[in-house]
This record gives sequence, C-alpha cells and structure tokens, in this order.
Amino acid sequence: MRQIMVAANWKMNGLSADAVHLTRAILDAGLDPTHPEVVIFPPYTLLHVVAQEAKASALRWGGQNLFWEPSGAFTGEISGAMLRDLGCRYVLVGHSERRQIFAETDADVARKLSAAQAAGLIPIVCVGESEGERLAGETEAVLQRQITHILPYVGTGAQPNLVIAYEPIWAIGTGQTASPEQAQEVHAFIRGLVAGQSEALAKRLMILYGGSVKGNNAASLFAKADIDGGLIGGASLQAGEFLQICRAAE
Ligand code: G3P
Repeated sequence: MRQIMVAANWKMNGLSADAVHLTRAILDAGLDPTHPEVVIFPPYTLLHVVAQEAKASALRWGGQNLFWEPSGAFTGEISGAMLRDLGCRYVLVGHSERRQIFAETDADVARKLSAAQAAGLIPIVCVGESEGERLAGETEAVLQRQITHILPYVGTGAQPNLVIAYEPIWAIGTGQTASPEQAQEVHAFIRGLVAGQSEALAKRLMILYGGSVKGNNAASLFAKADIDGGLIGGASLQAGEFLQICRAAE
C-alpha cells in the first residue's frame, strides 16, 4: 500500500486545552491507525501535552524547528536531543517562515538537517518558491538551488533519511492552493532531482504538499502520483477540517 502522511503544523497557536482537544479528536475519530501516518507539530510548549495524550497510539509528533548545536549558550533555542527527549520522531526544517522571518539560509537548513539526523530525528525539510519567483518563471531554479543543499542528507541506502515538503510560499495561509497539476509538476521535478543521485531513494522518498490544503481539495491533491500527503497549517487547528483531510488520505 502506498505510504501517505498528513502532518499538522500548528505554528505558534494554541494552549494546553487546545492541544488536548485536537489530539483527542484525532484519536477518537477511528482513523485507520497507520494509513495515513498522522504527525502533529505543536508549539514546543505543547509537545509534552501531545505526547501524554498520544503515547501508545499510532499518532506521531515532532518539533517545528531545532538549532544545529547539540547544547550550549544559545538562549531561546532547542536541540535535537531535547526534541527526542520529548518523544519526537520528526522535526520540521527550513519552513518558509523560518527562512523569511528568521533569515534562515540554505546553509543553515543543511546544518539543521545534519543535526536532526544526528539526534535520531527524521527531518521534514520545506522548500518552495515565492509568488514573484513563480511569476518570473524561476520556480525550477529556486527548487534546484534548495534541493541541491538537501541532496547530501537524503540517504545512502534505499530508505530515505528525510521527507521533503513542497510549500509554495504564495499558497501558505492565502487560500490560493496550488492546483493538483501545479503541485504534481513540482513534486515530479523534485523527485527527478533526487533520482539523479539515486533512483532507489527517489522512488521511496515522501514528498508532501503544503499550502492551503483543506477538506475540499485534499483528495484531488493526494490522488496525484508524486504527492505523498500534506503539511497542513490553518486547517489543522480545526478538528473537523483536519479529520476531513486525514480521511481523504485513507
Ligand atoms: O507548514 C504548513 C503551512 O505552511 C501551510 O499553511 O495555513 O496554508 O495550510 P496553510
């Protein structure tokens, strides 16, 4: 059966009661436990709440970011080991909001990928072009640049050591979802770049789509050959909408 993942990026939203409500709603929905694989990315302060609610279930959780040093005088940061200590299996790396607001570079993303893997986490690394870059016909050049920095970390055997999330910046939080055809085209381009390094890895690499995924468009996106699930922002904060998306992936 095809692997598919639906991941919830709560960003800087919610308090403990919200984390309990959303996690319990997912657990109580009677979803097929591992198809899709559901992963929750809460704010750091809610990781222990999600972990408490989701332990012994098929639900996974992860961090929204990490620093590349293992420990030290880095006020406000969190390490891969700390995320592992909170039961995280995954960590988001290079989200466009980290790149745009916190000036993370491709080199920073590469260092974070290495640190995540060294800590035993599976990174979900985010890539995507801005509206200006798409309108200028630069989408493939942007993706080529971003993926080039990621290739050394994809893996060496047949099992990839990371997941890629394609999130066109112009679709994030705007309601302007990429069409299934637009997303499929970029996903196939990304998979082709990885295939240039290893056909075996490219075949098994999971590539998620993110950017205004909703209950009413998820099925058409997930039906595409190279779209292996979604990274959901706003819709993941509404239990009913998020469950609609999960059911579209079953
Ligand atoms: O990481 C997922 C996020 O960037 C997508 O946000 O609100 O467009 O689903 P949204």
